[in-house]
Amino acid sequence: MQRVSVSAPGGHYDILIGPGLLDGLDEWLQPLAPTSIAIIADPTVAALYGARATAAARRVARTELVVLEASEGEKTLLTAARVVDRLVAMAADRRTVVVALGGGVVGDIAGFAAAVFMRGIRIVQAPTTLLAQVDSSVGGKTGVNHPAGKNLIGAFHQPVAVVADTTTLRSLPPRELSAGIAEILKHGLIADEAYFATTCADMARLLARDEAALAAAIARSCEVKALVVGRDERESGERALLNFGHTFGHAIEAITGFGTWLHGEAVGCGMCLAADLSRRLGMIEAADCAKVVEAVGAANLPVRIAGLSAAAAMQAMRGDKKAEAGTVRFVLLERIGKAVQRRVPDAPLVETLSAAGYT
Ligand SMILES: NC(=O)c1ccc[n+]([C@@H]2O[C@H](COP(=O)([O-])OP(=O)(O)OC[C@H]3O[C@@H](n4cnc5c(N)ncnc54)[C@H](O)[C@@H]3O)[C@@H](O)[C@H]2O)c1
Ligand SMILES: [Zn+2]
Repeated sequence: MQRVSVSAPGGHYDILIGPGLLDGLDEWLQPLAPTSIAIIADPTVAALYGARATAAARRVARTELVVLEASEGEKTLLTAARVVDRLVAMAADRRTVVVALGGGVVGDIAGFAAAVFMRGIRIVQAPTTLLAQVDSSVGGKTGVNHPAGKNLIGAFHQPVAVVADTTTLRSLPPRELSAGIAEILKHGLIADEAYFATTCADMARLLARDEAALAAAIARSCEVKALVVGRDERESGERALLNFGHTFGHAIEAITGFGTWLHGEAVGCGMCLAADLSRRLGMIEAADCAKVVEAVGAANLPVRIAGLSAAAAMQAMRGDKKAEAGTVRFVLLERIGKAVQRRVPDAPLVETLSAAGYT
């Protein structure tokens, strides 16, 4: 088992990474001395891992398994309200612990519900997708979508622990595995050139779900994220670099309808666009841009999604949370392994979109 510690103003906690950790969930729940436990999962994850997690939690306190229809399209305020309803129905109190068992969607919804129920109760993130294990379960961002924008409603709420059972990745559909690799590539690209190179070299092993390669990537990604979040929990500066590829990616998600493209797929394509924009602005060489595109393609992620509307993308990007007063701030590459934030004029942005097949 590997352990990565996070120290943010909103909480200090450990991320535990290793095979079979769900069966020992009680070891991490026991010290929290909860009055009751609510495990939140979607139907797929509940069927696969609900019984194991529940059995372990019941050794600690009264436990309910709450199964939610939770997909990207259902990541709404209404779904979060349903979690709150269930917490009320089970007579949860301030010492209840919520366990988010699943991918980023369940983690974001359950995290938001835990943030607002009684002004905040404790949550343990038990991520079961690669994307959630390397990214969304760490850092305390929680939230739900609004038709006007992705994650438009949310709260910062750090977990009290993250328990990443790497064995659960064996049942993950291949498309979801690749979506997680998008965020792994992102961590290397923004902060650690050597990690990006290792990820590229290990791509076949990652896609083949080699335990050691996956565990090493999860740990390194969590370290990168923990470092950034520790320095800038509430995204007043550096944390925004974690949004590399996301302004383009969120626009793809919004204009194609949440759920058409997986978040990680949209981010994969978004990173190619952000690299192209960095090149057009004279920040990186064409060869580095090609390396980004090659890595995204090697992860079986889309490098290009043609036929999208450039006008709709521009509108979505202007409406993104990261936009201020009509200009859009982009996270761009200064080199592989170093990202920076820049305000970008419309002209090169439109060129990037049209070169990528936007009409
Ligand atoms: N809070 C953050 O900091 C943050 C960061 C990145 C992404 N996110 C959010 O995360 C979400 C995406 O998360 P995701 O990619 O994990 O998607 P997801 O939660 O939708 O899970 C993907 C699919 O995999 C299934 N699944 C989960 N674990 C499985 C397993 N072990 N075996 C088989 N199937 C399994 C789920 O049922 C679901 O159908 C987006 O909403 C995104 O906005 C949040
Ligand atoms: Zn993301």
